[in-house]
Amino acid sequence: VASRILVTGGAGYIGSHTAKLLRMEDIEPVVYDNLTTGNRSSVRWGPFVHGDILDTTRLIEVIEQYQPVAVIHFAASAYVGESVVDPAKYYNNNVRGTLSLLDACRQAGLYRMIFSSSCATSGAPTVLPIDEATPQLPINPYGKTKLMAEHMVADYGAAFGLNYVALRYFNACGADPEGDLGEWHDPETHLIPRALMAAARRIPHLEIFGEDYDTPDGTCVRDYIHVADLARAHVLAYRHLAQDGGNLALNLGTGRGHSIKEVLRTIVDVTGHDVPVVFHRRRSGDPPTLYADAGLAYRSLGFVPRYSDLETIVRTAAPFFGLEARS
Ligand code: UFG
Repeated sequence: VASRILVTGGAGYIGSHTAKLLRMEDIEPVVYDNLTTGNRSSVRWGPFVHGDILDTTRLIEVIEQYQPVAVIHFAASAYVGESVVDPAKYYNNNVRGTLSLLDACRQAGLYRMIFSSSCATSGAPTVLPIDEATPQLPINPYGKTKLMAEHMVADYGAAFGLNYVALRYFNACGADPEGDLGEWHDPETHLIPRALMAAARRIPHLEIFGEDYDTPDGTCVRDYIHVADLARAHVLAYRHLAQDGGNLALNLGTGRGHSIKEVLRTIVDVTGHDVPVVFHRRRSGDPPTLYADAGLAYRSLGFVPRYSDLETIVRTAAPFFGLEARS
C-alpha cells in the first residue's frame, strides 16, 4: 500500500465506512478499537488492533509499528441521553481518551489528526443555519466532552505543530451503498433505524418524541447526512492536511433540515410499509431545529454530499432491516 492511516474506533458505524473508503483510495486503514460498541466483523479493510484509547503506551507502540501518515479519531462514547446519567464515562472516553491519543501522537511523532466532533457542541442555537462561527454552548455532557476535546486538539496544534481538521457531524445516517456495512447500534436510539425497525415490525411502534415544537409540523427538524458522504469528507480532510492546507473546524451537513414526519413519509414511499407511531412527550435535551450552513466544508474541502437526500438514505438503510426498497 502507498500509506497507512490509524483509525481509532474504526470498528464503529462511521469509522468502518471510512475505513472501507480509505482502502478504495489505496490507503490502508489500521483499526484500533476496544470493541465495546464496535463490531469485529466490520473491520475488513486492513489490520485490526484490539486496544483501548486510554492505553497511551499501546497507542505509541501501534504508531511506531505501522508508521501511519495520519490518525482519524472516531473512538468515543456517543449517546446524548447516556451522557446525562453517566457523565464519567463520557469524560473518561472522550476527554481523557483524546488526551491519551494526543500524547501518543506527540511522543511518537504523528502530526496529522482528523477529529470526530459533533453539532452537539452548538447546543440549542437561536440563529440558524449553524455555521462555524455560531457560539459553541453545548447543553449535555456529550456535547461538552466533544467541545473540550476540540479545544485540546487545537491547543496541541498551537503548541506542538499538530495539524488537524475537526469535523462536526450533523445527523449521521444511511448505510454503505454497496451493502457491505450498515448501522448497528446496541441499543439503537436513532430515528431512522428505529423507524425502519417499526416498519419491519421488529418493534411494535416508533415513539415520536414531541409533536408540539415550534417547527412547521410540530416535530423536530434535523440535518441528515449519509455516512458514505461523511466517510468521503474524512478522505478530503486527509488530502487537505497532506497538502499542508492548514487547520480547520468544519460542519458536515447538507444545509437542509427535515422533520420527523418528513422522514417517516419517505420511509413509507421507499419501502411500501407504514410506520406505526405513538406520540410521546418530548425527550429531554432535544433542540427543536438543527441544520448546518454547509458552505465552509464546500469552500475549504470541495465537499458536496452525494447520497444525503432522504430517499437515498432510506434506500441504502432499509435492506439492513429486512425491507426491500421499491424500484
Ligand atoms: N426521535 C424520535 N423517536 C425515536 C428516536 C428519535 O422521535 O425513537 C427524534 C428525536 O427526539 C430527535 C430526532 O428524532 O428529535 C432525531 O433523533 P436521533 O436520536 O436520531 O438524533 P439526535 O438528533 O438526537 O442526535 C444525533 C446524534 C448525536 C449528536 C446529535 C447532534 O445521535 O450523537 O445528533 O444533534 F450529538
